[in-house]
Amino acid sequence: MKTSLTHRVRVEIDLAALKRNYTKIARKAHPAQVLAVMKANAYGLGVGEYAKALAAAGCRMFGVAEPFEALELVNAKSLSGLGCEVQILSSILPDEIPEMVAAGVILPVTGLESAKLISAAARRLKKTAKVHFKIDTGMGRLGILSEDAITVMKAVEALPNLDCEGVFTHCPMAYDPKDVYTKRQIARFKRLVKEAEEEGMTFRKVHMAASDAINNFPETLKAPFNVVRTGINLHGSFDPNGRRVFALESVLTLKTRVAQVRMLPAGTTLGYGRTWCLKEPTLVATISAGYADGLPLALANRASVLIKGKRCPVIGRVSMDYTTVDVSDVPDVAAGDEVVCLGSSGSETITPDDWAALKGTHAYDIICSFGSRVQRVVASRDGET
Ligand SMILES: Cc1ncc(COP(=O)(O)O)c(C=O)c1O
Repeated sequence: MKTSLTHRVRVEIDLAALKRNYTKIARKAHPAQVLAVMKANAYGLGVGEYAKALAAAGCRMFGVAEPFEALELVNAKSLSGLGCEVQILSSILPDEIPEMVAAGVILPVTGLESAKLISAAARRLKKTAKVHFKIDTGMGRLGILSEDAITVMKAVEALPNLDCEGVFTHCPMAYDPKDVYTKRQIARFKRLVKEAEEEGMTFRKVHMAASDAINNFPETLKAPFNVVRTGINLHGSFDPNGRRVFALESVLTLKTRVAQVRMLPAGTTLGYGRTWCLKEPTLVATISAGYADGLPLALANRASVLIKGKRCPVIGRVSMDYTTVDVSDVPDVAAGDEVVCLGSSGSETITPDDWAALKGTHAYDIICSFGSRVQRVVASRDGET
């Protein structure tokens, strides 16, 4: 049945802000190119519109975690004819290889065995498969161990139907600009690229930096590096610990609506656990969003939401669908009014980074946690898309 109802909770993604963020990152990285990391459906925000906006801003490289994400981008009409490349950054399983090679997705080589399967699939398909060597210089998650890398890369280079275009690695600690482990990783990876060169292997793409290293390790933007991968910075967020080398805008606004407004007497306790007791008669609004929508429990009795440009403290525990807020300072608040949980209203702003600090986590966790009933809407604060 068709409905004219609007979703109670929506996240609006400002594509103009996204493009401005991309442009700032691209300028900082230049001459290195920017690969936009779109994994987990663009960190849960909706890959299609994201990729379209980034392509309009000049992005031609997109990174994902697994085949379904890759196919979504390969099949995106908005990218067709632009010469965009889609790359799986993490791992590839044997049964996934043929379809990914057929689709022209750039694949990670995490060992000789997977490279042999990619080569064989490409041969059967009469294609050349583009691959990037994924080297584990200290992430401890996936890839070829750096001590084995030269041997494995030489063996893979000898396989038919492969274009070994790139080599890359990833850092676990690059949010700390003084981190010695990352410095060693950078030195190790550079040495490896040099050794590979001495063995006659050159790569058109060499990359290491994700958002953290872009901000904290400028050497990862310069030769031999010529690509940087960024995800969280595109959204306008940063790791809580590191440097921020540019001012980026948060691209998202999480909104809901007031469900009910009541004047409650002193002594009323609010919600599960009865964690808040009103000291005086208080105007309380119950807003229509809770932890199922991505509001962390950590907001309880510590954070605020914005109604009509005013900060309204969260009082009582966040429940699955509803949250109670003190609206004593908001004139004429009524059921149905807009509530900005994340974003700006009047002169006030609340960012995913603010919530991350309250929850003791990082912005990735906040952005990836919006629930399935939260409507994703693209918008443009300045009218440009
Ligand atoms: C291999 C790889 N590169 C790049 C990124 C992007 O990281 P960020 O969002 O911190 O820029 C990730 C994300 O986890 C990743 O796994």
